[in-house]
Amino acid sequence: SALKPLIAGNWKMVGLPADLKSFADAMRAWSGGSRGGLLICPPATLLAAAVQAFDGLPIAVGGQDCHAKASGAHTGDIAAPMIAAAGGTFVIVGHSERRADHGETDAQVKAKAEAALAAGLTPIICIGESLAQRQAGETLAVVEASLRGSLPSGDLARVVVAYEPVWAIGTGLTANADQIAEVHAHLRKVLLSIDGTGAAVKLLYGGSVKPGNAAEILATPDVNGVLVGGASLVAADFQAIASAC
Ligand code: G3H
Repeated sequence: SALKPLIAGNWKMVGLPADLKSFADAMRAWSGGSRGGLLICPPATLLAAAVQAFDGLPIAVGGQDCHAKASGAHTGDIAAPMIAAAGGTFVIVGHSERRADHGETDAQVKAKAEAALAAGLTPIICIGESLAQRQAGETLAVVEASLRGSLPSGDLARVVVAYEPVWAIGTGLTANADQIAEVHAHLRKVLLSIDGTGAAVKLLYGGSVKPGNAAEILATPDVNGVLVGGASLVAADFQAIASAC
């Protein structure tokens, strides 16, 4: 694909200042490189520190969620302009763990994506089917409905979509290349039918991406990058994945 790949790490609810320091030190000492753009989404407590720790390195920083409103009485939530002000440039919205743990709906994810764009952030919108849905043959219908419901209205040029089959997250199970290609081709077709800018949307795959499977996944048609959970906590693994595109 002509789109520059994005290698994104999602640290989820893991990471203390010492972990950030050793990760940043290892990235600074790295003699390798990547054809892709690199992104780390640390816990919110480390966001500003990560921007500082990666100073001079080609690693963007992002949030893992944002509220749909720009400010207000929403204890514990984080607004998109706060992420931008801390130096973040991306934000993940609608991760399956947020959909499961906090009951987030497609409509809420869409509102969050629109808030992200309004704050100048690139939203990474996550969608994916459950194992039961895949076994019932509903995968394409489920991801298409979730995509249509979660996309911000208007220009899609600054939107990233991550396909993350729920059954492949943190399980060691990855979708195989044929399964990924089938879903990504369908998502691309849907994006192109919605807006002329749909061709610019990067389609990431996420779910047990590791150094050993990254090259095959990144070479799959219509895969424009990966969203890496567990393996992004280990600098050597993140580097190996980043080198695989
Ligand atoms: O956001 C990342 C995904 O949930 C994948 O996580 O690589 O630990 O399976 P994982």
